[in-house]
Amino acid sequence: MLWAPELMLTLLPFAAYNTASPISRARDKFDWSSQRALIAFGDSYTYVQGTHGLQNYSFIGDQLNFAYDAQTLLSNKIVQNQTASAEGGPNWVEYLTKCGLQPGLTSPKHCKKQLWDFAFAGADISTEYTPLHHNFTVSLVNQITQFKSYAAPVLQQFLPPSQSLVAVWIGINDVGDSSKYAVDFPTFYANLTRTLFTSVNELYDLGYRSFLVMNLPPLDRTPGNQATSTPHPNATQVAWYNDALAEKAELFRRVKGDVEVRVFDAHARLSAMLDEPGEYGIVNTTNFCAGYDQPDIETNYRAYGCPTPLETYFWFNSGHMTSHVHRILAAELEDWLQG
Ligand SMILES: *[C@@H]1O[C@H](CO)[C@@H](O)[C@H](O)[C@H]1NC(C)=O
Ligand SMILES: *[C@@H]1O[C@H](CO)[C@@H](O)[C@H](O)[C@H]1NC(C)=O
Ligand SMILES: *[C@@H]1O[C@H](CO)[C@@H](O)[C@H](O)[C@H]1NC(C)=O
Ligand SMILES: *[C@@H]1O[C@H](CO)[C@@H](O)[C@H](O)[C@H]1NC(C)=O
Ligand SMILES: *[C@@H]1O[C@H](CO)[C@@H](O)[C@H](O)[C@H]1NC(C)=O
Ligand SMILES: *[C@@H]1O[C@H](CO)[C@@H](O)[C@H](O)[C@H]1NC(C)=O
Repeated sequence: MLWAPELMLTLLPFAAYNTASPISRARDKFDWSSQRALIAFGDSYTYVQGTHGLQNYSFIGDQLNFAYDAQTLLSNKIVQNQTASAEGGPNWVEYLTKCGLQPGLTSPKHCKKQLWDFAFAGADISTEYTPLHHNFTVSLVNQITQFKSYAAPVLQQFLPPSQSLVAVWIGINDVGDSSKYAVDFPTFYANLTRTLFTSVNELYDLGYRSFLVMNLPPLDRTPGNQATSTPHPNATQVAWYNDALAEKAELFRRVKGDVEVRVFDAHARLSAMLDEPGEYGIVNTTNFCAGYDQPDIETNYRAYGCPTPLETYFWFNSGHMTSHVHRILAAELEDWLQG
């Protein structure tokens, strides 16, 4: 049912922007090795701390401090320390680019693969569907608006879109926040992911052609959800969202014709780690260590009732994976990107 009415309708916004693009075949895989930058959007799974960011939330700015100038962007540095991410250490984009991995401060400009990260902790896709977590939260839609106004004109002076891979990991908060809504979920998720790609289309209009989209982790298997017979979200909801995401990604690729858009199956990779933890140096998949945010947790984990070190846990806290899991995921992603 390729041309069902629902699909035709969703196609229209993309088709309307498609007038100038020649029909050409997307390459089979990303040429990640020759790309010079990763430009990232998303939520706490992806955000990195910046010296000009909001502490614990962003690399740069927030919804109440929306504008920034070139000087602020270019002098901004990625912070790496125990509290500079939502996982107690480097996250997947830092492992993938190796930018900001070292403790202390890193200027993205000076990395071999530059990391320009506009993800905001606590972000959902759009206030059209779910409320902001805080009045300073920058939704995905607004991250892209903000990027378009203040970052793209500056970055494009030295980083052409053809040398930049755009990465988006979003939906984690949306699916959690809406898990008890009284809606038809497949339709609701189709709406969410349509809005996601309408926003991604703005990046297309800026010249970007390579897009990496991460799908939802097994959020039905967080410690809290494992401990209940009524998980929110449940496995069906996660699967529905991931199906909608895959469908909209394929639609975007097909309608545009000249883009690479690939969905990395983070769900499958992370489920494999939960299923066979021993193969990944993980011993604890059911719980998180209560002292996860304590300054001495690395050596003094037993004092917090944790039988094994933090890096042997899958879950860092109630909703985030450990930096160890991010490192493994990034290594698998890097292999996949290189085909
Ligand atoms: C991490 O860096 C932030 C921002 O520079 C700083 O405020 C914080 O004190 C640092 N934390 C640790 C544990 O070093
Ligand atoms: C940031 O989070 C850390 C815990 O990771 C907390 O100790 C600190 O107070 C927070 N900083 C701000 C400004 O909220
Ligand atoms: C944002 O929320 C905080 C805390 O609820 C409040 O004090 C502040 O006035 C709000 N700021 C704006 C601009 O709405
Ligand atoms: C999905 O979007 C359509 C079109 O905007 C709207 O009519 C419908 O109510 C939405 N459905 C859900 C479940 O969000
Ligand atoms: C998950 O939740 C949805 C929405 O409430 C429901 O339709 C579905 O049956 C649930 N699936 C499972 C396996 O409980
Ligand atoms: C998993 O972590 C919890 C919380 O730290 C702990 O109580 C439990 O014993 C751990 N389980 C294993 C198998 O190590």
